[in-house]
Amino acid sequence: MVSSSSRQAIACVLVVATLCLHGATAQLSEGYYDSTCPDAYDIVKQVLIDAHESDTRIYASLIRLHFHDCFVQGCDGSLLLDTVPGMQSEKESPPNNNSARGFPVVDAVKAALEGACPGVVSCADILAIAAEISVVLSGGPSWAVLLGRLDGKTSDFTGSLNLPAPFDNLTTLQKKFSDLNLSDVDLVALSGAHTFGRVQCRNVAAGRTDRLYNYSGTNMPDPTLDSAYRDFLSQRCPRNGNGSVLNDLDPTTPDTFDKNYYTNIEVNRGFLISDQELKSSAEAQGTTAPIVDQFASSQDAFFASFAQSMINMGNIKPLTDPSLGEVRANCRKVNGNQEGRDIM
Ligand code: HEM
Ligand SMILES: *[C@@H]1O[C@H](CO)[C@@H](O)[C@H](O)[C@H]1NC(C)=O
Ligand SMILES: *[C@@H]1O[C@H](CO)[C@@H](O)[C@H](O)[C@H]1NC(C)=O
Ligand SMILES: *[C@@H]1O[C@H](CO)[C@@H](O)[C@H](O)[C@H]1NC(C)=O
Ligand SMILES: *[C@@H]1O[C@H](CO)[C@@H](O)[C@H](O)[C@H]1NC(C)=O
Ligand SMILES: *[C@@H]1O[C@H](CO)[C@@H](O)[C@H](O)[C@H]1NC(C)=O
Repeated sequence: MVSSSSRQAIACVLVVATLCLHGATAQLSEGYYDSTCPDAYDIVKQVLIDAHESDTRIYASLIRLHFHDCFVQGCDGSLLLDTVPGMQSEKESPPNNNSARGFPVVDAVKAALEGACPGVVSCADILAIAAEISVVLSGGPSWAVLLGRLDGKTSDFTGSLNLPAPFDNLTTLQKKFSDLNLSDVDLVALSGAHTFGRVQCRNVAAGRTDRLYNYSGTNMPDPTLDSAYRDFLSQRCPRNGNGSVLNDLDPTTPDTFDKNYYTNIEVNRGFLISDQELKSSAEAQGTTAPIVDQFASSQDAFFASFAQSMINMGNIKPLTDPSLGEVRANCRKVNGNQEGRDIM
């Protein structure tokens, strides 16, 4: 027989344990799904491998989703929600609209996980796991992905307008990162994800990002841009041409995760203004430029920093309070909020 006082004690322990596991201060952990969905990692990996067979770009696209999720309201799957009446999705904001991609693959991952362990793995965690797998399958480092995020119930269109922009100068980039407790090393290391994936002509040949024809309103190209690379890009992206045409962010090894992003920058072949700023701006001297130099000369140093910086990024405002979050059944919708349900 358990006495009533020890029953009370057990109840107290359970309450404390519940608070620790699910309370607002809960920490993310590597083994969060070990007992509830032990195959989660392998399930995600298989869906990604299958998707990659018809879409070589998908690994790059998926890590970018994690970045754009974490930088807006923290890593809470806010980017994945579709627009509903009264709430416009982040995915339609200028940094994402016709640019962020891979959402159907996230849906496929979610469906596979719901089949294996329904209601267990959050969409925010799917993005974190998919980011790591994508880097590994592209030749980059692995790291221990911390898990246990819940999905939020809102998407923040306005917040996503403040995402780092390709025309941002170094000072602005540093501010946007430091506001999230991310350092110069994080900024330089995470920018190294531009070692794979694609970028549209509009980001190098138009408006505030025009480096080919009208840099900063000068009607001249960006003088920092390597002239042979400029000629190459001008062929692909003629003035007033089709802004949607795609280019490799890293033309040397377009789909491989390696340190070539930094070796490109060293020879003035960074694609975006925000890339070259890390090395060439006046403000970079003595701050980010030496970090670029270090990563350009040591892939091991880059990989070690990248792994740690991905963990740092994944720790931005983790949503772990079950009164504020949930595990979505469908990454595009808040639970119990199916279309039409509100109209009763
Ligand atoms: C530092 C500030 C950053 C800026 C200004 C920036 C900006 C951009 C832009 C403009 C594009 C091209 C979008 C398009 O043409 O549709 C892009 C692509 C990409 N970005 Fe960034 N980015 C930044 C940081 C990051 C970070 C931190 C990551 C991940 C850790 C990342 C990963 C990627 C990837 C992989 C692509 C290619 C995506 C694809 O092919 O679908 N970026 N970024
Ligand atoms: C997003 O892009 C589509 C075109 O693909 C456009 O019709 C739509 O208006 C854009 N959304 C916003 C909010 O700008
Ligand atoms: C960087 O951009 C911000 C915002 O546009 C601007 O206020 C600042 O003067 C710029 N800094 C430098 C060094 O160009
Ligand atoms: C940054 O760190 C401070 C101090 O630890 C903390 O109060 C704040 O919530 C953190 N901000 C983010 C976005 O993580
Ligand atoms: C170049 O950029 C400036 C500033 O944005 C703009 O006023 C000007 O019209 C542009 N020139 C051309 C030829 O498009
Ligand atoms: C612009 O380029 C995109 C991507 O290559 C293509 O899908 C689209 O059809 C092009 N649009 C025009 C008007 O040529």
